[in-house]
Amino acid sequence: MLIDAHCHLDDEQFAHDLADVIVRAEQAGVQTLITAGVDVESSRRVVALAEKYRIVYAVVGIHPQHADTSNDENLKTICELATHRKIVGIGEIGLDFYWAQNPPREMQIENFAAHLELAAELSKPVVIHNRNADDALMEILRRQGVQPNAPTMRGILHCFSGDLAMAREAIDLGYLISFAGNLTFKNAARLQEIAKVLPLEKIIVETDAPYLSPARGKRNEPANVALVAKKIAELKNIDAMTAEKITTHNSQKLFGI
Ligand code: NI
Repeated sequence: MLIDAHCHLDDEQFAHDLADVIVRAEQAGVQTLITAGVDVESSRRVVALAEKYRIVYAVVGIHPQHADTSNDENLKTICELATHRKIVGIGEIGLDFYWAQNPPREMQIENFAAHLELAAELSKPVVIHNRNADDALMEILRRQGVQPNAPTMRGILHCFSGDLAMAREAIDLGYLISFAGNLTFKNAARLQEIAKVLPLEKIIVETDAPYLSPARGKRNEPANVALVAKKIAELKNIDAMTAEKITTHNSQKLFGI
């Protein structure tokens, strides 16, 4: 019984065999997949996938790498798509200061803030992407955290890559920490140390498929989320069943599934 809390099923790498990928996920014990849109077109596609496949749910939003497509009209479309019964949050949103060719930081920050506002209006959790933007990201989350009537559970930091202090502060602000397949990598000692000490009640698991394959260089798929849960169990010295059960419960509670 597992939930892959973050994947990209509308990616062209799944164009030819998505039905088989979903069957393999089910066979691996995955009961729910949450696929994330990255721009308006992708968000439309993930809504269609959620309609087509029983175990697929989705989040919609404009990814920081596409922040230059964020405007009133597109945000309105995201807002409309978000009212669909199988849309369980706003994402993938956030900040990505890694690539020099990404939209300017100010533009990304504005897009991110607009989505956070939208999510608050709709009372939906957010799925946050962060790369090389820890300080800017936490500053925005902190500012949001002091608003009145702030929900107690706000969303996830997907494919977490920050340090322990950041994870703890995000948890205090109401976020869950989501670990992906990179937790299983041999050089992931730092990340593993973080997963080891965080409370299991604040952890969820994902694949970010087709990206971040546990077997590097190959296409990743949601069935592999079992490996991430297994790694969490190993790090925490608990049985795999417990790790699966609790992380699944955490995702269900946050996304209302
Ligand atoms: Ni992603």
